[in-house]
Amino acid sequence: NGPLKVALLGAGVVGSQVARVLLAEGDTLESRVGRRLELVGIGVRREGIERAGIDSSLFTTDSMGLVTRGDIDVVIEVIGGIEPARSLVLAAMRSGASVITANKALLAQDMAKLSATANDNEVDLYYEAAVAGAIPIIRPLRESLVGDEIRAVMGIVNGTTNYILDKMTTASLSFEEALQQAQDLGFAEADPTADVEGHDAAAKAAILAGLAFHTDVRQSDVFCEGITSVTADDIAAADAMGCVVKLLAITKLTNDDEPRVIVKVHPTMVPKTHPLASVSGAFNAIFVDSRDAGQLMFLGAGAGGAPTASAVMGDVVTAARNRLRGSAAHVQTGYMKREVAPIGDA
Ligand code: HSE
Repeated sequence: NGPLKVALLGAGVVGSQVARVLLAEGDTLESRVGRRLELVGIGVRREGIERAGIDSSLFTTDSMGLVTRGDIDVVIEVIGGIEPARSLVLAAMRSGASVITANKALLAQDMAKLSATANDNEVDLYYEAAVAGAIPIIRPLRESLVGDEIRAVMGIVNGTTNYILDKMTTASLSFEEALQQAQDLGFAEADPTADVEGHDAAAKAAILAGLAFHTDVRQSDVFCEGITSVTADDIAAADAMGCVVKLLAITKLTNDDEPRVIVKVHPTMVPKTHPLASVSGAFNAIFVDSRDAGQLMFLGAGAGGAPTASAVMGDVVTAARNRLRGSAAHVQTGYMKREVAPIGDA
């Protein structure tokens, strides 16, 4: 009845917060899981990383050695980017560890491979933090609504661009001023091009589309237009028509006999009466329309260390509980074959 062993990859904004929760909330987590969770190592890129409140002996630059040592129950990957995250996550699952990842870029490229590897090795793969930070949206699509038929998912899934558009609308800031504020607040990606060109939202759109429509959607399938050419005049024109401009990730099916998946990210005129219109600042929101549940709206903090760590920790507790039961949640691999529709078909 020893503790469950947890390895963490990455000690940035999210990783250091996850480490703090694991170290500071041991008793609470134990009561929720039914077993102690022990943080046994933190894989980092270079030596000399120091984070307040985290024992420096936990840090290692040998992340591959950490995840393949054979006794790890749960690996948390918050490095981001494709490599080395991809190799580490695959090796961890093949070594018998369940994986929690916040890595939208990796999931939006390799979901099929990652899911199959999880199933083959009978481990969990959870990724609530990959889309819209703290907002529970992956589990609702994957579990709560899986007996229903989703018709459409529309979301504000990038806080930086929502902040910029909101400040351009309500405070008459220029694009550049608003972007600078978003960067100062710590929402923007290291390279804010990924935010303002819509690539960050496109990765999240691919993940949502795949879950909603039980198919394999990649970021490269997503039509993507960012907000760099939205002007103050566009915003004023939208306002005159009773609308606000929002960068939306949209996925729905075509009306064909054999429906195809439409998945796109672009600036959209949203009527002020729609629930998505009132989402302000760096908040994210996802609007889901389904056959039986009807219309649902999920709203909250889409970025930031503590909110994203909340989503990661929910996955950690869930994976740890499954581990104690000796079971892993099935990850969908029996994909329905659906062609991704070109944007012109929308
Ligand atoms: N840069 C992202 C955003 C962070 O602004 O929403 C969360 O993925």
